Amino acid sequence: MATSDGLMLVDRDNAGVANAFRADVLKGLSQTQKAIPARWLYDDAGSQLFEDITQLPEYYPTRAETEILTQHGDEFADLIGRNRAVVEFGSGSSVKTPLLLKAIDPAAYVPLDISGDFLRAAAKDLSAKFPRLPVHPVEADFMRQVELPKAVADLPKLGFFPGSTIGNMVARTAVDLLRSMRETLGTGAQLLIGMDLIKDEDMLVAAYDDAAGVTADFNTNLIARINRELDGDIPADKLRHEARWNDDFARIEMHLVALSDIAFAVSGERFAMRKGETIHTENSHKFNRRTGNMLLLAGGWEPQKRWLDSKKRFSLILAEARPNRSAP
Ligand code: AVI
Repeated sequence: MATSDGLMLVDRDNAGVANAFRADVLKGLSQTQKAIPARWLYDDAGSQLFEDITQLPEYYPTRAETEILTQHGDEFADLIGRNRAVVEFGSGSSVKTPLLLKAIDPAAYVPLDISGDFLRAAAKDLSAKFPRLPVHPVEADFMRQVELPKAVADLPKLGFFPGSTIGNMVARTAVDLLRSMRETLGTGAQLLIGMDLIKDEDMLVAAYDDAAGVTADFNTNLIARINRELDGDIPADKLRHEARWNDDFARIEMHLVALSDIAFAVSGERFAMRKGETIHTENSHKFNRRTGNMLLLAGGWEPQKRWLDSKKRFSLILAEARPNRSAP
């Protein structure tokens, strides 16, 4: 399992998952600023709640990125061409992936995911929609370099990493991932990556603290998961969801704030929180043109072209893995 601090990876029935979850939770609750890696938000209930979030009026990223993919198909076809193998990091969205595949009509499609179940379901779905497209699912942790199927070895590659999932990682982890993507895809590869943009604070906070309370349920579900899977007795009704903008790091942070002094146990270990103390559960970094470019360059990718949606809320960037050359 990846040790990312925020990547959306869904764990199902993996041996060792329970131990990794316990270790992360016990370590995270022992810190001065309590924090639990965001990947643990995505059990079955959490994954469904995230799907619900993408449909919320306040949560613009999914709609904005879908708009970009719908509007610029001709340019993707021109800049990417038709002979590439599309390698998607994550098992693919039923809406976004077909838009890209329709636009560029690639030579093959390789979804990568750590969850075999998700991967097989997504690959089956895609094959039904694109019966002539060779689909080669790979079950792997894409935080590390992945060996791609021999069938696509000689094809140039296009990595696809939509959703601004890169924003769920701190910079160091994001750079590690971009570098391992470069290793996986090879020199000459391209990468099409979604990056959510820095914007008005109220709009950002609303996207992560919606009126219907779905994001609050998504965050609080982590407590239910800990109590159920790690024999905990954390009083979920004494913790309130909060989305806050951290301007220094250009990120939305999700926290669970203690409404009163509380004490609880998890896996036999005891913890306490003072009123107002928080458990930090997710970062969602936002970018502008310069910080997005800087991150890509640090990861070994040269930005080639950038598209925004009509309301300029979200960006999709095409970047290239150029051969290393000397620079001033
Ligand atoms: C998966 N990821 C890109 C989402 C985001 O916007 O950072 C996760 C999310 N958390 C709360 N709402 C959505």
